[in-house]
Amino acid sequence: MNTPASILSSIDRQLHNQNNHPLSITRKIIASRFPSFKTHNTIFPVVTTKQNFDSLGFPPDHPGRSRTDTYYINKETVLRTHTSAHQADVFHANLSDGFLISADVYRRDAIDRSHYPIFHQMEGAMTWDRNASGPFLKRIREDLESLPKIENIEVSDPNPTIHPERNPLQGTHSAEEVGLMAAHLKRSLESVVVEIFTHARRAALTRGDDLPTKLEPLKIRWVEAYFPFTTPSWELEVFWQGDWLEVLGCGIIKQEILDKAGVSNRSGWAFGLGLERIAMLLFSIPDIRLFWSQDQRFLSQFSDTAPIKPFQPFSNKPGTTKDVSFWLNSTSSAAGGAVGKEFHENDIMELVRGVAGDLAEDVRLTDAFTHPKTGRKSLCYRIFYRSLERTLTHEEANGLHEDIRKKLVEGFGVELR
Ligand code: PHE
Repeated sequence: MNTPASILSSIDRQLHNQNNHPLSITRKIIASRFPSFKTHNTIFPVVTTKQNFDSLGFPPDHPGRSRTDTYYINKETVLRTHTSAHQADVFHANLSDGFLISADVYRRDAIDRSHYPIFHQMEGAMTWDRNASGPFLKRIREDLESLPKIENIEVSDPNPTIHPERNPLQGTHSAEEVGLMAAHLKRSLESVVVEIFTHARRAALTRGDDLPTKLEPLKIRWVEAYFPFTTPSWELEVFWQGDWLEVLGCGIIKQEILDKAGVSNRSGWAFGLGLERIAMLLFSIPDIRLFWSQDQRFLSQFSDTAPIKPFQPFSNKPGTTKDVSFWLNSTSSAAGGAVGKEFHENDIMELVRGVAGDLAEDVRLTDAFTHPKTGRKSLCYRIFYRSLERTLTHEEANGLHEDIRKKLVEGFGVELR
């Protein structure tokens, strides 16, 4: 068990189902592009390692399984790290050709304005019954042709090279079947990003007053990706405010997964995306902690029915930066993401969150140094404390920092410098 009580007590917040919340508004905008899909919005987050990893073909040594990255309840039970954890069960239930799963997901991670240990994902999948009446290929082609045409988009790389070492062609699928399912997948998701980014650009433009009558085409590209449960796999990137932004992962579902779920007669595609990242750009929300705010100055700014407009910050309080430097104890040896043998950088993040909660805005390693003679390692972390809702006093920040220093010694046996 490495799951703190503060995480467990947030399970019932269900932000993606809270009316007039930016995450539920974002969820509904995306779902509007899949009107015939069955939606699942209330699946409980405690799952088995079988559901979260094994059913999806994650190898036994996959880093995602490690206690440093994942919240365990016990040896075989975790808080789901992605909505894909439910793919196999929903395929098995076989209730519809297409489905969407929206849910809270949990990962031990860094502390900064775009990372939070709980976030929300949406999973979508569409499968066709190969044995239904009429030729399989013809049915996919008809479905593809019936999808709305995408306007105002510029796809710079519609078919990136797929490397068979990473994304082998599945023996059970012909190249033509994969081509048609992939085209259906890409067209469906291009329609999602055009919808989202049209809203986002309109919202951004409301800050200036002249609304142009026509938006420039949205620039996107498809990039080869790798997931244990799809092949081939892609990421969709959108050119947004000068950078390529990764919006979602997707691919053709590995047939093994459908076979094991008892629906070997079906083939199709799946995608997964993070709702926070999209909501942050839709509403110009600058810090991921804001989604958890219960302050009316935040919540009252969003509406299920009104057009999307940028969030207006209501508190611009300064924060306080404090450093903590320490020697790792002599038995610790640092390697990779591991700070020492006994702990990982994510453990420091957890410790800071345990003390400061949402008052810690950013934590980063600013210095690492190994003493040439003794071989001892020293680390310095810089913590930025700030409240998004009120002024944080110096006494309060000092108190939090002292507590963190104390717990670093107690928990990890470091020697403070
Ligand atoms: N579950 C993947 C993630 O969290 C996203 C994904 C879903 C990719 C479905 C492909 C298919 O990164």
